[in-house]
Amino acid sequence: MFIAANWKMNLDKVSISKFCDDLYNYKFSSKVEACIFPSLPYMDYLNNLIKKLPISVGGQNCHYKSHGAFTGEVSPKFLRDTGCEYVIIGHSERRSINNESDNEIKLRAQSAIDTNLKVILCVGENLSHREKGYALKFVEQQLLKCLPNDFKNLLVAYEPVWSIGTGKIPNVSEINEMHDHIKKVVLKNTNKKVKVLYGGSVNVENIDSILNVINVDGVLVGGASLKVKDFLAIYSAAVKHLNNSI
Ligand code: PGA
Repeated sequence: MFIAANWKMNLDKVSISKFCDDLYNYKFSSKVEACIFPSLPYMDYLNNLIKKLPISVGGQNCHYKSHGAFTGEVSPKFLRDTGCEYVIIGHSERRSINNESDNEIKLRAQSAIDTNLKVILCVGENLSHREKGYALKFVEQQLLKCLPNDFKNLLVAYEPVWSIGTGKIPNVSEINEMHDHIKKVVLKNTNKKVKVLYGGSVNVENIDSILNVINVDGVLVGGASLKVKDFLAIYSAAVKHLNNSI
């Protein structure tokens, strides 16, 4: 079970320090893995604050080159250097605001894999695909265009674009159907089994029903991960879910 906290462009130094104070009073479980994706300038700062805790840090994106004249970009090598274990690639905000294409996302994912980062590859349909009944087909095609040629450590995050930051989520059978489809598509095309996280408006109220979906292996949480109380409540729900399913 995996809990990813995507802080996006939120939480400054003071807020991060307060967030981490509360983490020290919490008893983490070895069964649930957690990774926080802070804003880049605070990577080292956060990593130092949580180095005694079983939480890793990750980058919100990386470039496909290891170095060069790419103003404003970050090298996968530098993420590794600052202690990152994971990197999110292909988030819908990068696709829509920064015009990252499927092909570019594939290059970024491959470069991250080659640098020994674990990749969380994001895919997801928009509302019109869903309403017209094309969601499975759209996500399948997006996935096939973005999957790196070779990988060991890769998770897929299913994040319907219409669900991100909106409070709306697909129903549990739609989530299960999509996750099952993603797993089958990856297995068929690469002979590899992948874990699939659900992302989009995950919060304290809906976490139990999402984790009960059979094909959900964890969650990628944005807004609700900014408050330490909610982050820990989501983490605790994952621990409880695992304990109940044993
Ligand atoms: P949200 O964001 O939880 O705020 O919807 C999720 C994401 O964008 O990864």
